[in-house]
Amino acid sequence: MAGTTPKTYRIAVLTSGLSRGSNLRAIHQYFREHKIPVEIGFVLITRKSAPVAEYCRQEGLPVEFVSSLDPQAFEAGIQKMVQSYQPDLLVLAGFMKKLSADCLRAMAIPALNIHPALLPKYGGQGFYGQRVHEAVYASQEKVSGVSIHLVDPEYDHGDVIAQAEIDISDCQTAAEIGQRVLELEHRFYAPTIYKYLTSRSCSG
Ligand code: GAR
Repeated sequence: MAGTTPKTYRIAVLTSGLSRGSNLRAIHQYFREHKIPVEIGFVLITRKSAPVAEYCRQEGLPVEFVSSLDPQAFEAGIQKMVQSYQPDLLVLAGFMKKLSADCLRAMAIPALNIHPALLPKYGGQGFYGQRVHEAVYASQEKVSGVSIHLVDPEYDHGDVIAQAEIDISDCQTAAEIGQRVLELEHRFYAPTIYKYLTSRSCSG
């Protein structure tokens, strides 16, 4: 409709440990460069020294530190942040913790996660970061890719909403696979997030 201002969506990005934050950066830059009305309400870190915090400071993105040492206090801390910033969606990017069913229910907003393989293969406990690519390499896969899925209380388990594949048949090492998949992650996550946000608001 002419003259209608598009809705601005707000997301919160959850990282953990020593997250380098390359997906956060790709998401932030994609929305900015394409003038897509999605703002990052806050970025969660669980270690003050996480490299991702430096990017947030440079870019003026709010960073919230919540210690994950005590799981109950951790989930209560995330819930408090969600209540205070009121995001439409949680976006997990390098977040390696489980969120309990109670916590997910209490937040009452959906959460998406990105996983660097074609789920259901190479997912679940112990499959994160470079370990995923090492397993893919050891199995001599010719194709790998990226999965974006809804978060439930199990690791890498909720409904997959989007996948993208990439040819890795000429990769000589697991690190090479990891690099190729990461570049795909950077291209794929932000548009998938926006598509998900708009499809949800269309369906009421
Ligand atoms: C990404 O490759 C992401 O897919 C993976 O951690 C990396 C985080 O990188 N997530 C998982 O393995 C979840 N099971 P980043 O901090 O540079 O975005």
